Amino acid sequence: MTFQPYDRPVRAAFVGLGRIYDLNVRAYIDNPDVEVVALVDPSEERRAQRQADWPEARTFGSTAELAASGLEVDAVEALLPIPLHVEGVIELLNNGWHVNLQKPMCNDLADAEKMLSAARANDRIFRVMENYIFYEPLRRLKETVESGAIGEVSGYHMKMVGSGRGGWDVPASSYEWQFQQMRNGRGVLVFDDGWHKLATALWLFGPIKEVRAWIGTTEVIPTIEVDAPTTILWQHENGIRGVWDITLAPAMYLRSDYYTNDERWEVTGQQGYARVNRCTGRGIQQPSLDVYAEGEMRSYHALDDDWASSFRDSGRHWLRWLHTGEGPLLWSGDEAVNVLRFALAAYASSEAGGVGIDPASVS
Ligand SMILES: NC(=O)c1ccc[n+]([C@@H]2O[C@H](COP(=O)([O-])OP(=O)(O)OC[C@H]3O[C@@H](n4cnc5c(N)ncnc54)[C@H](O)[C@@H]3O)[C@@H](O)[C@H]2O)c1
Repeated sequence: MTFQPYDRPVRAAFVGLGRIYDLNVRAYIDNPDVEVVALVDPSEERRAQRQADWPEARTFGSTAELAASGLEVDAVEALLPIPLHVEGVIELLNNGWHVNLQKPMCNDLADAEKMLSAARANDRIFRVMENYIFYEPLRRLKETVESGAIGEVSGYHMKMVGSGRGGWDVPASSYEWQFQQMRNGRGVLVFDDGWHKLATALWLFGPIKEVRAWIGTTEVIPTIEVDAPTTILWQHENGIRGVWDITLAPAMYLRSDYYTNDERWEVTGQQGYARVNRCTGRGIQQPSLDVYAEGEMRSYHALDDDWASSFRDSGRHWLRWLHTGEGPLLWSGDEAVNVLRFALAAYASSEAGGVGIDPASVS
């Protein structure tokens, strides 16, 4: 890769102006590292709506129209529906633009390799954005664990409850491609939202050598099944074990400014524990991080625990990175493949009755 950092603001295009644009855009507002030059979406309504944020930007109905316009673009914020990720990203890279893609990267390893080879062939940077690892309570959890404040790590668990009521409106069109993903065996809880949980596990404790899973299904509306109840457990190469349980509570109201979802991360050490009490939703009115050690509880009441801030900070990291080229991309395309392998190992394990699967062995 012969990447040269930019010595001027990055000229950026948004491709896909749907629901998640509302959060990704926060990295771009009042950011001297970037100039938004183009907005792309086949929906005229979306283009008109988002043009209000960027009156100077030009709007296009497709990537091909943007490419044909001759407008100079350096990098793209790719907010495409998941089934369009592979072809969409390859098209963006082939136009010579760096790409910051939303998760999940793609559904299988063959498609991942197509995307990575397009990045190599075009000598462009391909990042798969992971906002959770920029969520301040999770960052402080990681710092706390690494500081030794709870002693040597014994293990950890994550919890996720798909709560059915609360949160913002999601357009019916956004669900259509989620249903398509479900029909292709990539469920909304394990693979879509779950991508984040698997990413945090890799980020906290490193490579994984064995995964065991029991992935269930529940019909929530006729013909539509979601992938819960599910339990996934794993062991990192350093010997630390993690477990993640996903349950459904369709009638539960959980206050949220975004998607409704009750989440927890709890790391147990030899001398105490550190627990992040929530993330996407705001249901539980207690500090977002608690640390217990030696008979004392320390609670963090002033963290930036608005989930949207993790999008702002992840996006800012990317735009700054394009300016400096320094430090980790969080995540590079190759690191995202490790998240994909983790998910694929869980599917392979569940299909085989819960046997242990090494993510490196998944083909
Ligand atoms: N990080 C997170 O927590 C998080 C949360 C939600 C969604 N996402 C991801 O964000 C991405 C988009 O999700 P969303 O919820 O905004 O979906 P959405 O359906 O609300 O928006 C997608 C937009 O893409 C547009 N589009 C369709 N085809 C296009 C094309 N060929 N070129 C350009 N635009 C096109 C649609 O018109 C729509 O406006 C997905 O990858 C999803 O997984 C991430």
